[in-house]
Amino acid sequence: MTFDRSIKIAPSILAADFANFGAECAAVEAQGADWIHVDVMDGHFVPNITFGAATCAAIRPHIKGVMDVHLMIAPVDAYIEDFAKAGADVLTAHVEAGPHIHRTLQAIRGAGMKAGVALNPGTPASAVSELMDLVDLVCVMTVNPGFGGQKFIDMTAKIKALREMIGDRPVHIEIDGGVDPKTAPLVAQAGADVLVAGSAVFRGGSVADPAPYGDNIRAIRAAASGVWA
Ligand code: DX5
Ligand code: ZN
Repeated sequence: MTFDRSIKIAPSILAADFANFGAECAAVEAQGADWIHVDVMDGHFVPNITFGAATCAAIRPHIKGVMDVHLMIAPVDAYIEDFAKAGADVLTAHVEAGPHIHRTLQAIRGAGMKAGVALNPGTPASAVSELMDLVDLVCVMTVNPGFGGQKFIDMTAKIKALREMIGDRPVHIEIDGGVDPKTAPLVAQAGADVLVAGSAVFRGGSVADPAPYGDNIRAIRAAASGVWA
């Protein structure tokens, strides 16, 4: 994984056909996705359950690029090795998931993955100010985590504060929740480079008819780059 700040579109498979993850990942990659975002939920940290490391391992061979795993689970540490074995490139834990996020991030890097830290909408940027040298990605939630298809919450001031905190470090700012061609320019201008989008990518298409995925990805990318498609 090389670092740059160009806009990267990361479709969230939370909005894909759960009976067909492998083909869905291949389809969105063929249609221009940069990363694949994989949402792991435990029904405890968030009020919804998706799947775990075994499912990530099963879909890994169907992803050519970056597998970006977003853990919405607590506790985290006991599962880090499982996600490394499953082939996660980026593993993101929530700063709210426990008292020892510093140890968690060290363990993620120690297991050979890029480390991400995510912030819920109610958590200030200052909650991660001591972690900047331990992370490769900061994920700003623009919805309360747990479900796809929710309304975007404006976190522009937080994104700008994080961008300043990051300085010259090779740390991505990822935005997760309610990203579409209308909201993408706001977050891109504030300093984000990885845009997660579930419903706004998968709507209108399917594995049998994937062209709408490409239209949707291009529309978000163009909007984020300041060119309305
Ligand atoms: C929310 C997840 C998101 C979600 C985004 O808890 O972390 O990744 O899938 O879905 P949309 O783009 O539909 O808001
Ligand atoms: Zn997510």
